[in-house]
Amino acid sequence: MDIRPIIKGVIAKNCNPEGCRKSIQSQIHQLQQLPAISTGPKKVLVIGASSGLGLATRISLAFGGRADTIGISYERPPSGEKSGTAGWFNNLAFTEAAEKEGLIAKNFVGDAYSEPMQQQVVDYIRSEFEGSIDCIVYSLAAGVRPRPDGSGFWKSSLKPVGEPFAGNIINIEKDQIQPVSMPPASPEEVQETVKVMGGENWEEWIRCLDSNNLLARGVKTIAFSYIGSDVTYPIYFGGTMGQAKLHLHDTSDRLNKFLSKHQGEAHIGVSTALVSKASVFIPGFSCYMMALSRVLKQKGEYETSVAHMHRMMKDFLFHPEGVKTDENRLIRADDRELNPEVQAEIFRLIDKVTAENFRSDQYADYSGFIEEFMGLSGFTAKDRVFPETIASQEPALN
Ligand code: NAI
Ligand code: NA
Repeated sequence: MDIRPIIKGVIAKNCNPEGCRKSIQSQIHQLQQLPAISTGPKKVLVIGASSGLGLATRISLAFGGRADTIGISYERPPSGEKSGTAGWFNNLAFTEAAEKEGLIAKNFVGDAYSEPMQQQVVDYIRSEFEGSIDCIVYSLAAGVRPRPDGSGFWKSSLKPVGEPFAGNIINIEKDQIQPVSMPPASPEEVQETVKVMGGENWEEWIRCLDSNNLLARGVKTIAFSYIGSDVTYPIYFGGTMGQAKLHLHDTSDRLNKFLSKHQGEAHIGVSTALVSKASVFIPGFSCYMMALSRVLKQKGEYETSVAHMHRMMKDFLFHPEGVKTDENRLIRADDRELNPEVQAEIFRLIDKVTAENFRSDQYADYSGFIEEFMGLSGFTAKDRVFPETIASQEPALN
């Protein structure tokens, strides 16, 4: 079947189901070439399992550690003219491959913020999953969270705090770099971002599993954070998202104490910047990720999402001698990105990237970025067609 990608700005509106399946199979294959986790969990719940870090972690724990997994995600099946979302097909492909290996892979599709979802998952663990949960991965990235009283939604924002911010995004539809400026967030926008992307819902899940006696002795839970560098600070860690991440970090400390009765632990895994549905929205991020990938590839230190999350699981969270953290109790899988040499090189390169030269791969890894982005929806870079390109036989410049 010949499916053309439909891209609006930085959003892929459709996907290629067969491409998604192949991509999952290839990620599983990659993982199987890596050393396995020797002391990993066996009964895992992944909240936000259908794409990005959650999916990569699920692949790591299942295929690199032989864990049974439950995955929760918010995805759409195909209906009528609509292709369904990539995450829907990722779930199907993951389950097919896991079951072939004799592993349980159960999917729940719906709103992870809601109580009925908690109840369904609890009922399933009790009646069919056999055994209590020894690892909970919390990896939601959502734009909104329904208010529990039914009065609409909290909305998350990607904005600076205190001062305005100006940066570029790569408009993937038009193949252009576009300047974006952002006013600072209002106090309400900060609060709502914390409600959506902070730790409240993570804590609700852990308390719910605990009160239903479903947590195993030695249980570990992890949620993912991004800290980044001076380049990304004003728009990320110093912005609304950083406020939500600080709340997530505080929650991990609270949960860590709470779980001590199970000899359990709660952690924050600080990840490197990865191309995802969400990260291409953040002003300044795309060019930063292109420069980062170029530098890491040159150093032979570049990791795919699945390799990165497997390293976080194997060498940090499930290290045989205990969890590896920094002095602030954070897991720092972002060590390669934040290496001062790497940062200095990113600074040097990013300055040279312009709206005219960015497609040339001269200073940054544009091809890699596009391939990653298209791959999220089961496409390849070659699937993109630009009307201007056909008309003039030249790439469109802005
Ligand atoms: P993603 O968009 O690829 O994955 C989000 C997942 O959450 C999907 O499985 C989606 O279906 C699910 N989801 C969203 N709303 C839901 C809802 N209401 N109910 C149930 N499931 C829902 O995002 P990504 O990038 O993997 O982000 C996951 C976490 O990792 C976030 O906390 C993000 O801040 C963090 N992170 C991401 C980095 C990156 O560079 N992409 C870097 C460091 C941390
Ligand atoms: Na995820």
